[in-house]
Amino acid sequence: MAATARSLRASFSGVLMRLWRSSLGKKYVMAVTGLILFAFVVGHLLGNLLIFAGRTQINEYAQVLKSNLPLLWSARLVLLVSVVLHVVAASQLAHTDRRARRIRYSKFHILDSTLANRTLIVSGLVILGFVIFHLAQFTLLVVDRSYATLVDAAGRHDVHRMMIEGFQNPVVSVFYIISVALLSLHLSHGVASSFQSLGARSKKIEWNLKRVSLIVAIVLFAGFASIPVAVLTGLVK
Ligand code: HEM
Repeated sequence: MAATARSLRASFSGVLMRLWRSSLGKKYVMAVTGLILFAFVVGHLLGNLLIFAGRTQINEYAQVLKSNLPLLWSARLVLLVSVVLHVVAASQLAHTDRRARRIRYSKFHILDSTLANRTLIVSGLVILGFVIFHLAQFTLLVVDRSYATLVDAAGRHDVHRMMIEGFQNPVVSVFYIISVALLSLHLSHGVASSFQSLGARSKKIEWNLKRVSLIVAIVLFAGFASIPVAVLTGLVK
């Protein structure tokens, strides 16, 4: 019995490893992890927009999110694993792609790459840098340590005040706006290609997916950018 379970486990991990080693498998990994990250981004935007509802609403929301530690850490683990797999698969696929191209074009010494691929890689790298700064600023609270001491009248961490103080710095706000613009550009290609990798490949579906991805990307950009813009213009204070 134990031997059967062991051999089942071994063949399952064998299948997973073979899948990971193939380009197609890596594309699946990129698609699934990309869609997980996309779902997080949509949820995060909806939560952040509570800044327009008021201090009580957003501070209460932030407190509820952090109150269930097992759930919070499970979600963080899923996000972290998704980011790592997404980045590793992307860089390995880009490497394979470059090598194949170099062989194909070695006669002409041309190193080409499509615009979509180039922007996906560059925007992906800027987003990674942005997320590291963002976590340092608003989660680890190490960019400005005084954020840790901000407390509202009900004794909760004053996330509302922290966001206002953060975005009153125009350099920070502009950096956020550029980063979310690149994130939207990344998603406008990424979401459609994730569904294509998972099998949505007919011409009609492809066309619809591209349009929906573009609309979603524009809405996400407008939503995220509205927060620093509202703080800089004094709409939220
Ligand atoms: C204007 C745009 C954004 C605002 C105002 C914002 C705001 C915040 C705030 C206030 C927190 C800390 C929550 C808390 O500790 O209570 C946070 C955490 C976080 N944000 Fe954002 N965010 C923005 C954009 C983004 C984007 C575009 C991404 C991803 C690409 C992102 C990823 C994260 C992550 C991963 C966390 C950590 C969540 C955790 O604690 O586990 N954020 N954000």
